[in-house]
Amino acid sequence: MKLTVKEIQAWLTQFADEINQNKALLSDLDTPIGDGDHGNNMGRGVAAYEEAFKNEQPATISDTFKVLSMAMISKVGGASGPLYGSAFMNLMKATKEVDSIDSQEQLGEIIGQGTSGIEARGKAEADDKTMLDVWIPVTEALKKGNLTEDVIESAKEHTKNLVAKKGRASYLGERAIGHVDPGAASSAILFTTLLNVIKTS
Ligand SMILES: Nc1ncnc2c1ncn2[C@@H]1O[C@H](COP(=O)(O)OP(=O)(O)OP(=O)(O)O)[C@@H](O)[C@H]1O
Ligand SMILES: [Mg+2]
Repeated sequence: MKLTVKEIQAWLTQFADEINQNKALLSDLDTPIGDGDHGNNMGRGVAAYEEAFKNEQPATISDTFKVLSMAMISKVGGASGPLYGSAFMNLMKATKEVDSIDSQEQLGEIIGQGTSGIEARGKAEADDKTMLDVWIPVTEALKKGNLTEDVIESAKEHTKNLVAKKGRASYLGERAIGHVDPGAASSAILFTTLLNVIKTS
């Protein structure tokens, strides 16, 4: 594999498209255990990314991550905006000197920095029923060189059986069981589109 700025931008364009197509589904997931806005929140973020990208196409991998980070921080609001914003801010920092990403292992080190950003900002841990329940196993799989569709889907589905420890869903206690976490679902979209780009690069 070889991810240059072209493939990274193809990834984030696919991510934006998939978020737009799945806005209703993401908000529906957020309805029983949150406030029903996750799809719209993410939709605003990716729209701001697409707008900024149209105005000035970033020239490097790092600058591309920066544009998404700024879009998420300034336009999403809610819990997920600063969390995705921190993740992509760290991806920006981790790729400052990087022209291409040539292995899953190298990508795992970079995505791991994004995971650390979410942990630092939100103070959640594995099994707290958040987006981290996708980011952590995806990071681990990449570091071992074996990210698959199944890793991503299983991680997302695993959140169904968890009690939430962070965010609005945590007020529900046991009643959150049986529902997939919306942030885990949007993160699964992020990494499924990444995997598509890895497979074709
Ligand atoms: N402390 C946290 N650490 C990591 N992820 C979190 C945290 N709090 C919330 N999340 C993620 O954010 C998602 C909710 O994002 P949303 O866009 O709906 O914002 P929100 O409505 O302000 O959030 P919430 O309802 O969780 O307060 C959750 O599904 C979860 O994955
Ligand atoms: Mg919400």
